[in-house]
Amino acid sequence: MRVVIFGANGPTGRLLTVQALAAGHQVAAVTRHPGDIPPRVGLRVVQADATDPGTVSAAVAGSDAVVSVLGVPYSRRPVSLYSAGTASIITAMRDKGVRRLVVAGTAAADPGYHGSDSPFFSRVMEPLFMRRPGRTVYDDNRRMETAVRASGLDWTIVRACWLFNSAGISDYLVCEGSPHGMFTARADFAACLLAQLASDRPARVTIGVRTVAATPSIPAQIWHQVINKKNK
Ligand SMILES: NC(=O)c1ccc[n+]([C@@H]2O[C@H](COP(=O)([O-])OP(=O)(O)OC[C@H]3O[C@@H](n4cnc5c(N)ncnc54)[C@H](OP(=O)(O)O)[C@@H]3O)[C@@H](O)[C@H]2O)c1
Repeated sequence: MRVVIFGANGPTGRLLTVQALAAGHQVAAVTRHPGDIPPRVGLRVVQADATDPGTVSAAVAGSDAVVSVLGVPYSRRPVSLYSAGTASIITAMRDKGVRRLVVAGTAAADPGYHGSDSPFFSRVMEPLFMRRPGRTVYDDNRRMETAVRASGLDWTIVRACWLFNSAGISDYLVCEGSPHGMFTARADFAACLLAQLASDRPARVTIGVRTVAATPSIPAQIWHQVINKKNK
């Protein structure tokens, strides 16, 4: 399959690109920084900004499927990449006759999401991380999901929990809607996104993915993903 990956230069996108190539797909890796992605057999690196409809249209042309793992860092400022970038992708796919769209979403954008029954989650994680710095990211994720559902394309939204880096793909769990859990390994997230391209599951569904094996402790996760971001 000819697969276009938006966000291919991010930590999940890089894993997804390697997994897609290993699965035999022809991959177009979309990035604003093409020099960051090393050449590989079967890989085409495409320079495009997801908010620029012209470059997005050129990236999507001739493909069979699009997977988006676009993302921005948490910020208190308004975020529009998810909705604006995905709107460009949807328009380009309609124009070019490409129907299959798999989109990375976040469980925390679901108002009903409850990652853990622990008091730490409800007293620290929710108020300090999810309701404050994460709020603008989750607001825009909700706008993105609404646009994807209204797209008329054959879409799947895959919601993940808090991402961490792992040694490899594990026996991750998939459910409809949002996952009930704290963590998703990036390798599992990538594998689940990729699996949707070959899945018998009907399109137009929102699923959640979470990791249950070798998950980090919350302090370790805060250190690696929030404080020491070089380790991302
Ligand atoms: N962090 C979490 O705990 C968490 C939890 C659940 C879901 N998610 C979602 O999981 C996905 C992957 O997250 P991640 O941490 O692996 O990656 P990420 O750091 O969010 O990076 C994604 C990539 O998006 C690309 N990008 C940003 N703006 C762009 C633009 N205007 N045009 C084109 N590309 C653009 C960047 O690549 P270039 O700079 O090379 O263009 C970046 O490397 C995201 O959708 C995120 O929201 C994250």
